[in-house]
Amino acid sequence: MSVTTPNARKVLIKTFGCQMNVYDSERMGELLDKEGYVATNEAGEADLVILNTCHIREKAAEKVYSEVGRLRRVADERRAHGRETLIAVAGCVAQAEGAEIIRRAGAVNMVFGPQTYHRLPDMLARAREAQAQGQTPRVLDTDFPVEEKFDHMPKGRVSAGPAAFVTVQEGCDKFCTFCVVPYTRGAEISRPLAAIEGETRDLVAQGVREVTLLGQNVNAYHGDDGRGAAADLPGLIRRLAAIEGLARIRYTTSHPRDMTDALIMAHGEVDKLMPYLHLPVQAGSDRVLAAMNRKHTAESYLAIIERLRAARPDLALSGDFIVGFPGETEEDFRQTLALVEAVGYAQAYSFKYSPRPGTPAAEMADQVPEDEKADRLARLQDLLNRQQLAFNQRSVGRTMPVLFERAGRRPGQLIGRSPYMQSVHVEAADLRIGDIRACEILAAGANSLHGALAERSQAA
Ligand code: SAH
Ligand code: SF4
Ligand code: F3S
Repeated sequence: MSVTTPNARKVLIKTFGCQMNVYDSERMGELLDKEGYVATNEAGEADLVILNTCHIREKAAEKVYSEVGRLRRVADERRAHGRETLIAVAGCVAQAEGAEIIRRAGAVNMVFGPQTYHRLPDMLARAREAQAQGQTPRVLDTDFPVEEKFDHMPKGRVSAGPAAFVTVQEGCDKFCTFCVVPYTRGAEISRPLAAIEGETRDLVAQGVREVTLLGQNVNAYHGDDGRGAAADLPGLIRRLAAIEGLARIRYTTSHPRDMTDALIMAHGEVDKLMPYLHLPVQAGSDRVLAAMNRKHTAESYLAIIERLRAARPDLALSGDFIVGFPGETEEDFRQTLALVEAVGYAQAYSFKYSPRPGTPAAEMADQVPEDEKADRLARLQDLLNRQQLAFNQRSVGRTMPVLFERAGRRPGQLIGRSPYMQSVHVEAADLRIGDIRACEILAAGANSLHGALAERSQAA
């Protein structure tokens, strides 16, 4: 830990987008801690501001530019008091737009992509050197370096309670025609099994009870197993399940194409693997799925769900959906509704299709009008919300283990998670964060459950 002195340099990291960015921001924070930076939430105090950005849907880049505009005014104000500020844009907008950001936003001093974070100390030294010479620093790094960033970054540590994330895989080779991820995160790479196991053991030693294995395509995981072969995700899960003290394992996000028999079997056999799976399908029409380059059909997706449920009957499912993909007709959209009806989701994310510059779908004819997209999204969300509420209501009267993660709003109340990812609110005097206790579910809303400790409970 760095010593907090009034003169210590301060850094503000603002994170947008997915869990991978959250994980990366934490690692950057730790790297900067070693460089003597102290975290702050106040832009006015920050000597360095890093925007860790997302490019997945529209206006993401615009949001960054308006944020930079605000920061420029703060930096001007600080300069008037003799203090310099470095403004950095990292993440997927940085990777996608690169030097264009520096051209458009003169206030930005550093632009660097997701695969370069381990070079941050070096980039900072260069920027500060330029600053010291009275120049405006301009540092740009959007390489996809051969060395793996995680080999050169601090290991994960506990900053947010007993449930932690561990990145196991990055990048994507799937090239769905709507998606920027293969361009912003690069080709699919997996971390070696031993590195993930080591990081997980460290987390458990610090009190972590649950890990979520992260990757853009986590079930494509194929990390070095240390014996010259590749480990797959079920192999990794079984290895981690042997770690004493670790109670729960989850993983996200998966692609239906990589849902292997071995992984499906693991859902039936590994007790620590939680009965919740986020498995995006995107659409229910085979014509649309083909145009999306998903390489699965509605039927093959439903067949996977059936096998998963045979292995683990209480598996809760979540998904991602896109409405209004180019060429999607009312009939195509109805097939999405039909698929949702057939699956019955516990939870889901749904989006209006957003054309991303440089992706094939953005160039396709028959773009769907905005009002049509909005109408379909409302109808889909109405159905998904009803399914979510019904799923939660079916939990009432059941007793299930809850991992308590944080304090609730009321005194004496803690909020935890059920095996199925539901938030559970419980009031009990002897509860501590990190406990896993059997709770009876008493009431359910759309977004959370209310429960009470089950008697004589000390469940795993
Ligand atoms: N690798 C993950 C994450 C992809 S991004 C996966 O395959 O699921 C998360 C979600 O954002 C996607 O599943 C998709 O539903 C949505 N998404 C991606 N690109 C989009 C776009 N151009 N417009 C609307 N939604 C998009
Ligand atoms: Fe994007 Fe498709 Fe890769 Fe997911 S699988 S990250 S949606 S290209
Ligand atoms: Fe966004 Fe990049 Fe994640 S585009 S969703 S931050 S991989």
